[in-house]
Amino acid sequence: MSTRHFLSLLDFSSDDLKSLINHAIDVKQKLKQGVSHTPLSGKLLAMIFEKSSTRTRVSFEAGMYQLGGHAMFLSPRDSHLGRGEPIEDSARVISSMVDGILIRTFGHDRIEALAAHSRVPVINGLSDLLHPCQLLADMQTWFEQRGDIAGASVAWIGDGNNMCHSYINAAIRFDFALRIACPPDHKPDPSLLASAGDRVSLHATALEAARGADLIVTDVWASMGQEEEQKQRLEIFADYQVNREVMSQANDDALFMHCLPAHRGEEVTSEVLESSQSVIWQEAENRLHAQKALLEKLLA
Ligand code: CP
Ligand code: NVA
Repeated sequence: MSTRHFLSLLDFSSDDLKSLINHAIDVKQKLKQGVSHTPLSGKLLAMIFEKSSTRTRVSFEAGMYQLGGHAMFLSPRDSHLGRGEPIEDSARVISSMVDGILIRTFGHDRIEALAAHSRVPVINGLSDLLHPCQLLADMQTWFEQRGDIAGASVAWIGDGNNMCHSYINAAIRFDFALRIACPPDHKPDPSLLASAGDRVSLHATALEAARGADLIVTDVWASMGQEEEQKQRLEIFADYQVNREVMSQANDDALFMHCLPAHRGEEVTSEVLESSQSVIWQEAENRLHAQKALLEKLLA
């Protein structure tokens, strides 16, 4: 049987994703009750980080520990990954010694090359194209707060980036409507958009996208690797801030999510981030629980 990877939400069926989220809710409860759950005893996860991280690193490392396994951090600075050893060769070597590989990097093709040459499951911990692990946590958070998301209306406001792309994939797998508002030159990938059909729509303004939404989501205006564009992007995205006015267009019980880190006063106001509609801390904590369910599915 070929090795199962998690490079995109689309690698899993809708049923797989829903049962994974239910399992995540279950492992969360076990942890809170102090019940030991160690199905990954003796298993090792290599974690390659070619970009910075707080949540992804801490949640995967804590998750492996809690499941009875161990995680090993690798960075390009102190391995041969940063000295030109091909990712294909690194994949063959690393996967001969560990049970799974997590990678956060720039080009998505680098993750695909790693997976193609790895004998063990590869998990996408964020690429320039996608951030599927974050969506597991976001969907878990929604399911905990509101139940099934099928048929709900979700507004994505800001950059048509890796998070926006994963929301498009989530709209396909979880069957919700996604209303996107991005500056004209920062729209999501056209082929991804086309793959979602009429579940996903583009809107001219943030206010229009937010109208009647059950969930409003945004992310930083300059992603990792775009630091030099930061100043220019502040101007381009100025009309795409999630603020009180944007939230007022949504349904009264709408939730607000942000994968974090957030830039208060840029893509979202402090007021919205700290409001009772904001579930950002639950969302961040659920990275741990959702990924434990993922690790168990792929590595156990
Ligand atoms: N949301 C997220 O992936 O956070 P980190 O960059 O801190 O891992
Ligand atoms: N879009 C952001 C997400 C960070 C978790 C980035 O890629 O930097």
